[in-house]
Amino acid sequence: MAAFIQRMSCLLAVWLAVVLSGIQAVDRSNFKTCIQSSFCKRMRDVVPGHSPYRALLETLELSNTRLTLQLINDNNKVRLLLELYRLQGNMTRLKINELKPLRPRFEVPDVLIADPPTEPLSLVSQDEGGVVLSLGADARHLVVSARPFRLDIVEGPHVLLSVNSRGLLAFEHQRPRKDTLSKISSTVGSMWDTIKNIFSSSSENDSEEVEAEEDAEDQNYEKEEDQADMWEETFKSHTDSKPNGPTAISMDFSLPGVEHVYGIPEHAENLRLKTTDGHDPYRLYNLDVFQYELYNPMALYGSVPVLLSHSTQRTMGIFWLNAAETWVDISSKAAENTDSVQAPSKVAQTDVRWISESGIIDVFIMLGPKPTDVFAQYASLTGTQSFPPLFALGYHQCRWNYKDQEDVRSVDQGFDDHDIPYDFIWLDIEHADGKRYFTWDPAHFSQPREMLQGLVDKRRKMVAIVDPHIKVDSGYRVHKEIRSKNLYVKNKDGGDYEGWCWPGTSGYPDFTNPEMRSWWASMFAYDQYEGSMENLYIWNDMNEPSVFNGPEVTMHKDALHGSWEHRDIHNLYGLYVQMATADGLIQRSGGVERPFVLARAFFAGSQRYGAVWTGDNAAEWSHLKISIPMCLSLGLVGISFCGADVGGFFKSPSSELLVRWYQTGAYQPFFRAHAHLDTPRREPWLFGPENTALIREAVRQRYALLPYWYLLFYKAHGTGQPVMRPLWVEYPEDVTTFTIDDEYLLGRDLLVHPVTDEGSKEVTVYLPGTGGVWYDAFTFQRHEGGQNLYVPVTMSSIPVFQRGGSIIPRKNRIRRSSSCMEKDPYTLYVALSPQGTAEGELYIDDGHTFNYEQKKQFVHRRFIFADSTLSSSNISPDSQFSTASWVERVLILGAHKPSSVTLKTSGGSVASLEFDFDEATSVLTVHKPGVNAGADWTLLFQW
Ligand code: NOJ
Repeated sequence: MAAFIQRMSCLLAVWLAVVLSGIQAVDRSNFKTCIQSSFCKRMRDVVPGHSPYRALLETLELSNTRLTLQLINDNNKVRLLLELYRLQGNMTRLKINELKPLRPRFEVPDVLIADPPTEPLSLVSQDEGGVVLSLGADARHLVVSARPFRLDIVEGPHVLLSVNSRGLLAFEHQRPRKDTLSKISSTVGSMWDTIKNIFSSSSENDSEEVEAEEDAEDQNYEKEEDQADMWEETFKSHTDSKPNGPTAISMDFSLPGVEHVYGIPEHAENLRLKTTDGHDPYRLYNLDVFQYELYNPMALYGSVPVLLSHSTQRTMGIFWLNAAETWVDISSKAAENTDSVQAPSKVAQTDVRWISESGIIDVFIMLGPKPTDVFAQYASLTGTQSFPPLFALGYHQCRWNYKDQEDVRSVDQGFDDHDIPYDFIWLDIEHADGKRYFTWDPAHFSQPREMLQGLVDKRRKMVAIVDPHIKVDSGYRVHKEIRSKNLYVKNKDGGDYEGWCWPGTSGYPDFTNPEMRSWWASMFAYDQYEGSMENLYIWNDMNEPSVFNGPEVTMHKDALHGSWEHRDIHNLYGLYVQMATADGLIQRSGGVERPFVLARAFFAGSQRYGAVWTGDNAAEWSHLKISIPMCLSLGLVGISFCGADVGGFFKSPSSELLVRWYQTGAYQPFFRAHAHLDTPRREPWLFGPENTALIREAVRQRYALLPYWYLLFYKAHGTGQPVMRPLWVEYPEDVTTFTIDDEYLLGRDLLVHPVTDEGSKEVTVYLPGTGGVWYDAFTFQRHEGGQNLYVPVTMSSIPVFQRGGSIIPRKNRIRRSSSCMEKDPYTLYVALSPQGTAEGELYIDDGHTFNYEQKKQFVHRRFIFADSTLSSSNISPDSQFSTASWVERVLILGAHKPSSVTLKTSGGSVASLEFDFDEATSVLTVHKPGVNAGADWTLLFQW
């Protein structure tokens, strides 16, 4: 019987997969709108301008770094506790919880890298209207108004941000079920008080007044009307039992002077967020959405609750640290600024309102003022992008699925036969034995080590998928162990939670439990994961988690992770999966090797564990186009290692679309082709020799620029600055850049405008920076900054420009894989500014270990061109690394013809170098400086 059920479950899973993958567009009815999510509806029904919250100034307590204050809801007398902190690095943290919660409310763990360091908060003034606190320099103050409760952060005469100025603060206090309450009062009398005391987190305030108000509170619990769906909610065939009743929270933030807001990925949306008036808010709820639609606020696979505002004056960020289902409303207006701090005037204003289903209000306000400051502030809270091994920045060849070892061998050989470099070949779910991850299909992948060794021999790697749903099969060791250790997520009745996924009936490991994570990590040891080797890396898919037969294709909210409901932690689940896997890869190497893990679902902080991709896109031009804003939005909130399936996952690309997608993907951080099981094969050489040549060229350009990509990731890891950047990040005062999302910058120095329209004959590229210059990265033609440039394109064109004033290192000898290019020499591209200067950096290490961090084994050079001299100096004198790479050539763009070029080395030798000057392009090529890439040297130009 069990076997029969298992077979049926497999069949149903396969059927579901086929049906779902055949759907032409998202089936919206599978996913809730705000109105269908009862807490969202309740919160959205709150009318602005009538805040019932009042700050009880007499409860104010100010320690050196923390202010606490009670807020009272005058409608039901329920009290909240407000905590305010001034954080180091120009940030303010605001927390609101119930003063005496019936049971503890969830506070998100493991996202902040540490307790954020605080700075002293001092009281400037206080009267019956409120208090003013100093936020340190620049005349920055925090104004707390009492009636109604409101916060304003002001700088001099300007209000930077207001909280609850629209009166939308709402905090659904926990309450006993009505039936429970009446039972309690009739039978046990004061039991209710006892329960409250047990769970109470604060025992401080026991004055008579408070007791009187608590009595009022209790009576109000009884008086308060329950609204529909507060205690149970049904969506399609799923009923959410909501044992704790309503627990939603909401808060509004107003941003005077702001017209542009960004962030809160993941949505298939433009970079600049739209207002949500008249339609649904942006939703943050990690979901497996088949065939997602573009340009709408529906939730997708990942969530980062961080919103950035930008104006010519200032960039700021709001980080809403909550892992429950969240909705974000955005509206904008020309507002009457009636704030007492400022004379009344009309200003543009954007209002943002966050709504979450449970947890507490925990908000970090990042005050910038520059974009780079906001990135650094957010990085100080949640960490930076992990520094990937160099080879992970190469090209990845994936499809669902490579059938067997022979298939892998022949695709691998195909790359050599067609002279296309690649670093990774990927195996999707069919490689495992019946979707039992950590195993190999005995018929098709019987000799995994042999297969992996074949790749090692070519200095290439493999990625295998390991999803977080575990086949319920008593003969499967992974399942047996998780079950016997009692580490599965539980259903509401306490049994192991089961759902349908690829393997049929599946259990879901409780990754929120550190014991589960550490066991999972241990599974990647070479002796546990049989057939694995050092060149096998991991892909965590379906980690929203995807549950085919669950509500909205995910886990029931009343499932249990220890004492917390899935409702509380939902958006965090995916982060934990990737965290445990990355830890596993680190541990299997004894802490030596940097991991590479790709995940589909993510949260704030996921940047610390690897790469993400934009999920199941389609082979359509519109999907190619949207890959740019989708990755830009992720970069703004710390997740730099982003890519989209090259070619499109569903459907089949035309050869033109495929070529354009390779050209675009070659200039996006994570560069992987991927395709659905049902699509025809599409390895790069299957579209005729011309298209093969175009794809080869795009991939080769990627490999030539790997030194620059590597430097950008090193810097992203060190500083939190995004690798792929909107133009406004570098040109914050240029309003033209604020809405651009069809072109972007890589670091500061490369501007890319991929061709994303069918049949394009030209693109219009905006070159920012009046007074500056840009050089076409291939023709070296020089163009003025601050203009729209009309660029004719052919199928081989990838419009890329190097900023005048920059120096970019490339490796121009392209080989089979990035590892094969390790010792190859560099060519430096020196693009002169109108002032005849340029600057750049080079970073080199072993490419794969933590030795750069633990032993300071790396080379980090600064190149400066000024006063007719190009010099290479050490940025990091305490580092040490010997590289075999050397400088083969130097190209100076925008140069004159010199009479001589002389090389001086640190050893004192002086040599005259050969050079060519091309009058037509003004490019000076200096041949064979021959110096080691880690050495000090100078080139002197005599004009
Ligand atoms: C869904 C993923 O998004 C896709 O990339 C993958 O190929 C399939 N799952 C099968 O594993």
